[in-house]
Amino acid sequence: MSSVADVSSALYRITLQPSGRQFDCTPGETVLDGALRHGVVLPHQCKTGACLSCRAQWLAGDLRPDADGEDSASADPQRSVLLCRARPLGDVTLACRELDAALPVTRLPVRVGAMEPVAADVMVLRLTPPAGQALAFRPGQYVDVLLARGVRRSYSLANAPQPDGTLELHIRHRPGGLFTGQVFGRLKPRDVLRLEGPFGTVDVQAPHIAGRPLLLLATGTGLAPVKALIEACIAGVTRRPVTLYWGGRVPADLYLHALCLQWAQQHPWFRYEPVLSRAPAHWHGRRGHVQQAVCEDFSDLSDHVAYACGSPVMVAGARALLVSQGLADAAFYADAFTAAAA
Ligand code: FES
Repeated sequence: MSSVADVSSALYRITLQPSGRQFDCTPGETVLDGALRHGVVLPHQCKTGACLSCRAQWLAGDLRPDADGEDSASADPQRSVLLCRARPLGDVTLACRELDAALPVTRLPVRVGAMEPVAADVMVLRLTPPAGQALAFRPGQYVDVLLARGVRRSYSLANAPQPDGTLELHIRHRPGGLFTGQVFGRLKPRDVLRLEGPFGTVDVQAPHIAGRPLLLLATGTGLAPVKALIEACIAGVTRRPVTLYWGGRVPADLYLHALCLQWAQQHPWFRYEPVLSRAPAHWHGRRGHVQQAVCEDFSDLSDHVAYACGSPVMVAGARALLVSQGLADAAFYADAFTAAAA
């Protein structure tokens, strides 16, 4: 059933198909920001143009497909556009999926409960919210850490929701990084951070695909949201085959390797394939890249769902390879790290 948001003061009216739902965008606003402002939840994750989660089909109307200035006159209607980049220049009709209502975005202070260096350049932070103020989120979502002067940094939540509200972040140290320098420098247990969230949508548990075999591809700290999804599977009552391909260059990059092996031992529906691109001679696991390993293992992915999290290069490569192996494009979900994550 379609619904109509308040369009009485609309400057540009956006119509979504097939629902017919409408909302307005202000000049200069992206379609995604306009939708979220009206409580219309569309698939998205990175909001930077890297993960392709927000792709939609542009059916009619005038818009600038890319926020960096691609000329609308040169663009073809009927083409695929990214809703986090596209800015309407008039009334526009788009075809895209819509999701259930979003959880409320809130700001909350959290206390640093534990800091665990799990690799030379990766810190696991466990954060405790004030009593009675647990953040409501879905596995795969992320939060922004709010820093001084309006600066913010986005991090995936690395655990499924916990009864005590504990939040886990995996922070990779980036030389010169504003927040990561703080984490690997002066931050200490009992310090307070300010968070805002949750953001993003990863609906691999959506009812229409919830029973399909799930492929999880991660590189580096891309494991964080993947870990949250696996924990949700462990806590859930329904079982689906889940295979994790976790990639790094050398063994030390797989900073929770023992935990993944433990999951594989404890849960017959879970399989773990570590993959190294610069494996030492003694490595007995897979070599190469995670997306190649998936395609070596599955000749037909037409009944699978995949979620990839890591570098934009990995995510783009995985999408191309897995779709060429039969995966439905709409069954590929992703999050991609960008430089702003420092
Ligand atoms: S949310 Fe638009 S590309 Fe990631």
